Amino acid sequence: MNNIFESKSPLIKHLVSNLRDKNLKGYNFRKYVREIAQLLLFEALKEEKLINKEIETWIGKGNFPFLDEENFVITTILRAGLPMLDGILEIFQNAPAGFLAIKRDEKTLESHVYYIRLPDLKGKTVIITDPMVATGGSLDSALNILKKENPKKIISLNIIGAPEGLKLISEKHPDVNVYIAQIDKKLNNNGYIIPGIGDAGDRAFNT
Ligand code: PRP
Ligand code: URA
Repeated sequence: MNNIFESKSPLIKHLVSNLRDKNLKGYNFRKYVREIAQLLLFEALKEEKLINKEIETWIGKGNFPFLDEENFVITTILRAGLPMLDGILEIFQNAPAGFLAIKRDEKTLESHVYYIRLPDLKGKTVIITDPMVATGGSLDSALNILKKENPKKIISLNIIGAPEGLKLISEKHPDVNVYIAQIDKKLNNNGYIIPGIGDAGDRAFNT
């Protein structure tokens, strides 16, 4: 799984452990998810190239390194991915955002795409966010959709993954770098990640 990068950051581990507390929900759950997304973005862009831009500073004009913000499009899988999208858009404030609504059938565990709304992805670096990679079916569907739009590169930011789902993504999408906060032990018989955090969408949105 050469394209799966599990974080070694103690801070990220600390935040993920907070998410596992079943009493954490709603506002605070979304807050931790947002923060983890921002830290994963930091890890994902460590090697990203910078462009020099001239700006006016307090001592006059000067050239300084910036990320090429116009190169990025941020996408998410509804609904649990929304707080991650928020976190990334707090940093890339002018980035276009795209939405893929995908729901897993609770019995068959198959993912169903029910809405797609994407800006132009051609030649762009697309960042996709979803906290959970369980069977990998939802992320696989999302990546297949994104790839049809001819982006330059796709980076996936995820919080918790099961080895089964990450193996699938690694095999089917070796060209996508996946930055994940924590790889957990396994899936249970209902397709939930163990130990995991339960249903991320329900916990984020109090359902
Ligand atoms: C969750 C999660 C992922 C998916 C992971 O979404 O946010 O998208 O399950 O499972 P998979 O890897 O087995 O496909 P869910 O379908 O529960 O939708 P929700 O975010 O609207 O609750
Ligand atoms: N979706 C979730 O929200 N949690 C899991 O453990 C698996 C899929």
